[in-house]
Amino acid sequence: EKGTYPHYMLKEIDEQPLVMRKIIQTYQNGQGQLTIDPEIIAALNESDRVYIIAAGTSYHAGLVGKQFIEKMAKIPVEVHISSEFGYNMPLLSEKPLFIFISQSGETADSRAVLVQVKEMGYPALTITNVPGSTLSREADYTLLLHAGPEIAVASTKAYTAQLAVLAILAEVAAKSRGLEVGFNLVRELGIVANAIEVLCDSKELIEHISREFLSVTRNCFFIGRAVDYYVGLEGALKLKEISYIQAEGFAGGELKHGTIALIEEGTPVIALATQESVNLSIRGNIKEVVARGANPCIISMKGLNMDEDSFVIPEVNELLTPLISVIPLQLLAYYAALHRDCDVDKPRNLAKSVTVE
Ligand code: F6R
Repeated sequence: EKGTYPHYMLKEIDEQPLVMRKIIQTYQNGQGQLTIDPEIIAALNESDRVYIIAAGTSYHAGLVGKQFIEKMAKIPVEVHISSEFGYNMPLLSEKPLFIFISQSGETADSRAVLVQVKEMGYPALTITNVPGSTLSREADYTLLLHAGPEIAVASTKAYTAQLAVLAILAEVAAKSRGLEVGFNLVRELGIVANAIEVLCDSKELIEHISREFLSVTRNCFFIGRAVDYYVGLEGALKLKEISYIQAEGFAGGELKHGTIALIEEGTPVIALATQESVNLSIRGNIKEVVARGANPCIISMKGLNMDEDSFVIPEVNELLTPLISVIPLQLLAYYAALHRDCDVDKPRNLAKSVTVE
């Protein structure tokens, strides 16, 4: 039930601190250590390459998950869109492990790949929010998101839950391989939960920014580098699906290779700046679009922020920034849809679970 909330989407955005804490609790043992079913960790350690298969928002979670698994557990990862994988299958490694990411566990495009790889005899793990769902039943292993039912068509809490579970999987795998991750993930995810809470309390400011940048525009671009690029893709998807604003996410460095031609006087460009190693270069990209008339909305992380930034998110572990930088983007999309009189929870032409290929 949505209770006093005007929309499920807003309720589900607000539930994210709770979901984060629930995940930390559920994946912790009595000694405060994160744990994952040892069979899953063994399957990961036996594989020479992970293939993440997903669609839409879950695909965007996979792009970030690849960073977690490669940086922490040092296992190579490829991320594929499920609808493309069937006929565009890459040359597989000798011992692949397939990870299916699906909120609903019912996405037909992803299931088609699962059926195919099971026929080929490869192990599969499904990360899903729905126990007993098709993708869970048909895979060898399941990890649950524990996000509670997600009703709004636009996925919000499932995305942050997917990132948290992928980070935990990466950390437990790293430890099992004797690798040092260099931080305490339980602690860092606790900081993330608190940061999400702070962001959920900033609705007034975000609504104001949304009105300023998005209430009348025809299009909007998201730019970022490294993981900020992937979060920008997700921000663009949220915006287009519920507000119908044409939105695209670009890698900062790609602008000059073509897309900067799209910038006109007043075009909103939402730029993410949460990564120290690329802060100067993304700032350079912002200057380039501003010189062409763009209206920049810069969302930076505390410590990397500058005077011209529209919104500053709290500081969290640099690897985990996608778990919090996405929150203002979810809220920007929510308010844009509201200001433009769109049906927030049930956008046109879309269904919550896509059970046709
Ligand atoms: C976007 C959205 C969709 C889903 C996609 C995959 O907000 O909800 O892009 O992410 O249809 O769905 P699942 O995760 O259920 O496989």
